[in-house]
Order: sequence, then structure tokens, then C-alpha cells
Amino acid sequence: PLPADIFPGRRNSAGVDLADPLVREALLADLAGMRERQWAAAPTVIAEGGEPCPVTSPQDRSDIVGDVIDATPADCALMVGRGRAAQAAWDQSGGAARARLLDRAADLFEAHRSEILSLCQREAGKTLSDAVLELREAVDFLRYYAAEARSQFAAPTLLPGPTGEQNWLRLHGRGVFVTISPWNFPLAIFIGPAAAALAAGNSVIAKPAEQTPLIAALAVRLCHEAGLPNDVLQLAPGDGRTGAALTSDARIAGVAFTGSTETALAINRSLAAHNGPIATLIAETGGQNALIVDSSALPEQVTRDVVAGAFQSAGQRCSALRVLYLQDDVADAMLAMIRGAFDALVIGDPAELASDVGPVIDAEAQTALNDHVAAMRAAGRRVWQRDLPASLAADASFVAPAIIEIQSITDLAQENFGPVLHVARFPAEGLAQVIEDINSVGYGLTLGLHSRIDAHHRLVEGRARVGNLYINRNQIGAVVGSQPFGGEGLSGTGPKAGGPHYVARFATERVTCVDT
Ligand code: SER
Repeated sequence: PLPADIFPGRRNSAGVDLADPLVREALLADLAGMRERQWAAAPTVIAEGGEPCPVTSPQDRSDIVGDVIDATPADCALMVGRGRAAQAAWDQSGGAARARLLDRAADLFEAHRSEILSLCQREAGKTLSDAVLELREAVDFLRYYAAEARSQFAAPTLLPGPTGEQNWLRLHGRGVFVTISPWNFPLAIFIGPAAAALAAGNSVIAKPAEQTPLIAALAVRLCHEAGLPNDVLQLAPGDGRTGAALTSDARIAGVAFTGSTETALAINRSLAAHNGPIATLIAETGGQNALIVDSSALPEQVTRDVVAGAFQSAGQRCSALRVLYLQDDVADAMLAMIRGAFDALVIGDPAELASDVGPVIDAEAQTALNDHVAAMRAAGRRVWQRDLPASLAADASFVAPAIIEIQSITDLAQENFGPVLHVARFPAEGLAQVIEDINSVGYGLTLGLHSRIDAHHRLVEGRARVGNLYINRNQIGAVVGSQPFGGEGLSGTGPKAGGPHYVARFATERVTCVDT
């Protein structure tokens, strides 16, 4: 029998069936009607007020999606004060009441599906199928953490009293949590950590990525409409300066950050400098994710999973495949099939349903990726690269997808966050060495294995130091409640998002012992 969900009755979102022509056409008509709509984002509380700045679309920088007012240090200080004042009542409202509001927010996200999908496309450059997955994941996070609030925060746990006393264990919010989220999941990873912190009884100041404040503002608006008090969930748009103002404030209780390892370490140093209570850091960072393919793998499956892992979402997932290891004996044949599928990828504006690969997020990412491919060429590596179609907007941040041959994962200096796949070969007896090389890099997020050999499954499972290992499938798209997601080492602190240990990390434990 299939294992039941740990929360009876909880179901993952059904998403949107784009294969159903009636559903699809109605949605496409809605999205077309929102092409020109203007959106706005501003701090929930403004102390001094800044100038609105335009937010543009990565697939066409002449398309202004809306404008954003960044939170200044004074705005941040005011929000921390308000969050602190509101937190005790929120904590005391109890897990069941908080869960009701989070569930209501999930319902409103689904009800506002078209606006959310439109913003995922226009502000973040997502294809429609990626946008649908993003909305599903956001809704799943809200409902999963609501279920956690009900199960862990609604009532105390009575523990045994060897000498006759009663021992009550209660979980409480820690205080004000700052959440700092990335542009690659501008809704799901914006709302996921915030929802977990809220479920645990914290108030939250949520700082979205500077590239994607508009969808975050819509998410916060819907949460407020659902009944979450304004001071309990506050929005702080801005760049690194806003993040630094929030994380250096000694009154905060913790930070949940998703982004680069370098920034996580900087936040850790900032928290360590607080002259006050010790703040918690929960960080989910990068990866140098590999997929190992031995000679027993099924070529059609490998091809499908390599293309999804490396090029879906234009390679802009922290789980994405970066280094494909092919066993020598089958490497040429596998690579020929993979290149066939690679050549068939449709690169285009995400507004077109046929597009498989959209833009990367901005000019900075585009330059870094193009520089990497150029450096690899200059170093004499073999590179296959697609041409960009002439139909793309003149001012857009597309990167031509590339496949680059390397010797080993250790040849790469950094994570390349985009549609660039590296391929290495290994000899039949070399599997253990491949695992050692992958481990030596220090990241530990996702790893794929395509193999029908049990001994290879055991070897990889036993030695790989990664958070999420996928065998005979692709390595992206972890499902909330089924594949708790997150890495170790340079890839993050844990706990795993969408898993049973996540929400508790946002809480503090208190025990009351009553002598009877
Ligand atoms: N949770 C996402 C995935 O599994 C991470 O980017 O793809």
C-alpha cells in the first residue's frame, strides 16, 4: 500500500491542466488581457518614503511591469518594532487559528491564479508550465505548514513524569523572523519560509529578491486579505542594503534565507555580531548538482531527464543538473541522443505556449553565463551551443543553451545558474571516484543516478553527501510533503522545506513542570 500523508486529509494542489483545451484557452485569454497591467510594491510601513523605480521584464526590458519603492533602513527599523509588538498576540492566537488563516491564503492564491501566473511570466520570465508549478508549490507550502501549525502548535504535549509531576512541552514563536527569498521561485520560496515562520507563531518581515518585488507584494496583499494582520506579515522590498538593515537589527530572532552561499555566510556574520539574543539562521543555498549515468541506464529516460534537469526553468533552479557523468561505454550514444533533444528545445518568449526555455533573470546573470561559456571555449573545451532565435526582443536577457565537455566536476570554479550543462566521462570501474569528486566540491543539494544495478544504487546512496538523491528520474521539482527539499555543506543548514522537521526550527520550546 502507498504510505499515507502524515497529515490525514491533506492533499497537494491539483494545479492547472494545460492539456485540457478549455482550461488552457480560458487561461491564455486571461493572461493576454493582463499583458499591459501595471503592478506596484512598497514597504508595508513607510517611515521616510523612497522614489518608485520601474520593474522590467527579463524577456523584454522595454516592458515595464510596475514599480517598486524600496524599504530604507528607517522603514526596516520601524517594521522590526511593529513586528515585535504584534508577535506575542499572534503566538497566543494558537496553531489552529493561524492554520485557518494560512489555509485561507492558499485558497486566495488559487482564486487569483491568473494574476499570479501573469506575474510569474512577466516579472520572472517563467514559461507557463513553470508558472503553474510555482503556484502549486506555493499553495502546497501554505497548506502543509498550516497542517504543521495544527498538529504541533495547537496543544501542548504531555510528557512522562517519573516522580509524579506533569510535564508540558509547548512550542512558541521565537519573535520576529526575517525571510530573504530568491527571484527563481519568486512566489513559492517567498511564501514558503514566511508561512513556516508564521505557522510557528513568529511575526515576519519578508524581503523578496530585488528582481521580483511585484509578485511578492501580491502574495502579501492576498495574505492580508485572508486575515493575517499587517504587522504580523510585513513586506520589505529592496536590494542587499535592505537585507543588511534587517539582518543587522539585534531585535530580530532569526533569518530564513534562500540564495547564494556567499550571502548566507555574510548573514551569518551579521547575526553573530548582534549584541543581544543569539539569532537563528536557516539557509538554503546553491549546488553543483550531478547526474551519474551508467551503462545499464535506459537512454530515452536519461535523455528526457537530462533535458528537464538542465534546461527546464532555463536551468535556474537550485536543484538543476549542472554536471552529467556518462560511463565511457555508452557516452557517445547517450550524448548523441541528448544533443538531438537539446537541438529541439524551443527558445522563446515565455508568453508563447511552445517555449521550453525562457530568459535568465537579468543582464548580470546573462553576462556571467556568457562569460563562462566563452572562458570554456577559450580553454579549448568542446562546446555545443544553440543559436538564439531572431524573433526575441532586442533588449532581453536570453542565454543560448550550451553543453560543454569537461573532465571532472572539480574543473568548475562556481555554480553556473542557467541553461549550461557540463558533461564528463568516467570508466566502468570509476563510480566510487566520481562520488568522491562530487563530495569533494563541498555542495550537497541534489544528485541523480540512472542505473538498473542495485549495487550502484547502494554505493551512491551510501556515500553521496547530498540532501536529495533521485534514482531513475529527473532531479528537479521536489514535491511538498513527499520530497522534503534542501541540502547540506555549502548547500545549506537544513531543515528541509516541505518536510516534517521544518516548522519546528522556527520555534522555541518551553517546558512547564507541575508538581501534582
Ligand atoms: N524545490 C525546487 C526543486 O526541487 C528547488 O529549486 O526543483
